[in-house]
Amino acid sequence: MRKQIVAGNWKMNNDVAQTEALIASLKAQNKTTNAEVMIAPTAVNLSQASNSVKGSTIEVVAQNMHFAESGAYTGEISAGMLKSIGVNTVILGHSERREYFNETDELLAKKVDAALANGMRVIFCFGEELADRKAGNEEAVVGSQIKNALFHLGADAFQNIVLAYEPVWAIGTGETASPEQAQDMHAFIRKTLADKYGNDVANSLSILYGGSVKPANAEEIFSKPDVDGGLIGGASLKAEDFFAIVNAF
Ligand code: 13P
Repeated sequence: MRKQIVAGNWKMNNDVAQTEALIASLKAQNKTTNAEVMIAPTAVNLSQASNSVKGSTIEVVAQNMHFAESGAYTGEISAGMLKSIGVNTVILGHSERREYFNETDELLAKKVDAALANGMRVIFCFGEELADRKAGNEEAVVGSQIKNALFHLGADAFQNIVLAYEPVWAIGTGETASPEQAQDMHAFIRKTLADKYGNDVANSLSILYGGSVKPANAEEIFSKPDVDGGLIGGASLKAEDFFAIVNAF
């Protein structure tokens, strides 16, 4: 059975006091659930957040990292540094990193390698823009994002990879992919992986959907057979909404 995962990507929100307050509310609501629950606070609060979630089943994950282990990369954070504060999972390839920080498939392949070499788990994000979908190119775009950043890996690497399909046109816009659009793309993604690595790898891989997931639409999206959870932005900033989404499984 594939892992079901709901991860909250807090993006550049919440100072240290707000982080503490939100984690306290999350811990108060954290009931037994089938899904793995993750939160991704901003880098400066990861250390404190890792301590604060102790005693709960919530995992604290990073939003980004650099590919090098150390060195002259001002402002950057390495996999080893994340591990040293108890952070063992990292989100890579988010469309905001691609758009605002010029992250390319080639760079992301190096980051994925560095995370895996450090024994970290990767939540690898990708997704097409509106123009791609309007032109009917969504599968070509998503297929090439996956191939370029991941297809140099051996099959074993996928034990530590979670995929997150986030259509750029649905992020923060209030416009969600329909459950059918999400299912169609997730099935395409799984087939892409199956064609390269075989059915065992493809069928064991968790594929999350992200883009305007809310309590009102989570249940229908998560009911689709190839949707194994969600990467949640705005709605992860309120404990009740986030757990309503977690409990949608
Ligand atoms: P929203 O849920 O705010 O649309 O953001 C999705 C996202 O980018 C999660 O990584």
